[in-house]
Amino acid sequence: MKFRLLSFSLFLLSIAGIQAQSPSHKTLDIDINKKGAGIAPDMWGLFFEDINFAADGGLYAEMIKNYSFEFPSPFMGWRRVQEDGAMGYHYTKPHMDESKNKKYLQLQRLNDEGVFGMSNEGFRGMAVKENQNYRLTFIAKVAKGEDLAINAQITQGRKVLAETRIEKLTDDWKEYEVMLNASETADGVNFRVILEGEGELDIDMISLFPEDTWMGRKRGMRKDIVQLLADMKPGFLRFPGGCIVEGFDLENRYQWKNTIGEMKDRGTMINRWNIEFAHRNAPDYFQSFGLGFFEYFQLSEDLGAEPLPILSCGLACQYNSGEIVPLAALDEYVQDALDLIEFANGSVDSHWGAKRAEMGHPEPFGLKYIGVGNENWGPQYIERADVFEKAIKAAYPEITIVSTSGPSPDGHEFDYLWKALTERNAELIDEHYYKSPEWFRNGARRYDDYDRNGPKVFAGEYAAHSTTEKDALKKNNWEAALSEAAFMTGLERNADIVRLASYAPLLAHVDGWQWAPDMIWFDNLDVYATPNYYVQKLFSTNPGTQILQITENGETLAGEDGIYASSTYDENTKELIFKIVNTNEEAKAFTVKLKGSYKGNGKGIWQELQSDDLGVSHNLKEPKKIVPVEKSVSVQKKAIEVSLKGQSVNVFRLKI
Ligand code: AHR
Repeated sequence: MKFRLLSFSLFLLSIAGIQAQSPSHKTLDIDINKKGAGIAPDMWGLFFEDINFAADGGLYAEMIKNYSFEFPSPFMGWRRVQEDGAMGYHYTKPHMDESKNKKYLQLQRLNDEGVFGMSNEGFRGMAVKENQNYRLTFIAKVAKGEDLAINAQITQGRKVLAETRIEKLTDDWKEYEVMLNASETADGVNFRVILEGEGELDIDMISLFPEDTWMGRKRGMRKDIVQLLADMKPGFLRFPGGCIVEGFDLENRYQWKNTIGEMKDRGTMINRWNIEFAHRNAPDYFQSFGLGFFEYFQLSEDLGAEPLPILSCGLACQYNSGEIVPLAALDEYVQDALDLIEFANGSVDSHWGAKRAEMGHPEPFGLKYIGVGNENWGPQYIERADVFEKAIKAAYPEITIVSTSGPSPDGHEFDYLWKALTERNAELIDEHYYKSPEWFRNGARRYDDYDRNGPKVFAGEYAAHSTTEKDALKKNNWEAALSEAAFMTGLERNADIVRLASYAPLLAHVDGWQWAPDMIWFDNLDVYATPNYYVQKLFSTNPGTQILQITENGETLAGEDGIYASSTYDENTKELIFKIVNTNEEAKAFTVKLKGSYKGNGKGIWQELQSDDLGVSHNLKEPKKIVPVEKSVSVQKKAIEVSLKGQSVNVFRLKI
């Protein structure tokens, strides 16, 4: 896998307008006095979607699958435990209230011999860590019998790794909370609720979480995963997707109001990725909405990221049903958007602001963006977007609206939407590209010619796909990551147009994924970041506030001789930042000359991400084959002399 062909064709391209360069040495100039347009402080962000078991079974640390028996097959994930002569039955029964939690489990035990109860398998397994506490909560009532007790256990085969006994169960519904402490680290464990004594026990909402979650929150998120996100210092968090926003039909669309408040009021819904890909079937993929809109806003706040919710525009996924809400019936959808802004920003005296306060956050979340639709296309989208725009701007002129340009970065639909949205003075247009590494390398000039007076761009979903072969595993390999880095120098150079950018998708369970590549992978015990993650992190943690030009003979570099470069000034730290991506197999020597006033201390930091092997990727056992290496560089006579390894991404920071 070499980039020679690309370099050669770019060289041919270059001879018309760009002076031919020596292949072994390059001289680049940065005029630090010529600061260009400002860079959005939130430019590099995160795209989160509940795909690949990213929410339930992933970021959201719940360990029990189908915790409230609301899946259409109410015992999916559960199995009856009946050992050593125990006799009994299990049923579901309906709750008689108005909540969205419709069913509960009844355990009927007919004798007092052996072991009887139910066992849960978790999300593609379950894992515990030695000496860690696990918080079990459930609601229960005794329907028949005396002195019934529950023995809650975490087991591996017949070996008990943690257990605790709950006695004095009452005959009215009550919530119970106990801790289990794991005696060892183990994967492939089960959770068992064992009923002791003859009689009938009603039980529901059986939930098990590590005590040690992100910020120590109850029913919280996996600390190890959130830490990787926090380390990126993301500028924004887009949620909840992706196609999940649209749903395969309108009924299945994401409705944020069903995801807030008490768990019993959140309901459970099939995840659209459950049935999307025959080659990655996931019949056990549902949404508990334990990770709902309040939690997304809270996570954004934790990360210091702007929340960026995307809502259904009244068009279901056009790859699936393409179901459309008639314009006359669009009010409910528009109202959802207005209410969401009130939920995020409204005072505690407002209807939805009060709900936010009830959930523990009286202060507003400071929402600035709202997205209308995801990957929708055609005049039907424009008609609906118009209605949303009018209503949102009338009530909240300060909110920036994100519009979609469909699923492809070019072609008839893309052109149609860009034209229509430009005529409407759209503010921010969401572009998506899942393309080959070569497309990314060749695309570093994509935004050079965009109209500087038109709408701004949100590169809302992108990733280089190592193969375009249908159903083949697309890998997070170094070729993909290096090519994304090359492309991203083009985003940064055009940061006056490209206001926001996010790699997609974010998370994937190694045993539960539907879509690859993904930025971060995990199992129930561990997590690892891909080379693509490290590329993203290099950009997001080294952003700068203003664009500077880095040129060779007055021309920007976007693939000439396989070299890509961008540069910024950070007015907060008074630093010059520049990035050079060398996609050649061999090293290249550079002289980087600093023009303009330089009063630095002659030293700088150089972060290098490199591999000789374009095919290399990470996995749970080898999670850090390609990670940034930090070195120092010196500035002499206002110039840096440096040799950049082949296939490397390099970020330099200098006090100026
Ligand atoms: O990121 C995965 C999917 O790709 C998103 O849900 C969708 O918007 C795009 O097609």
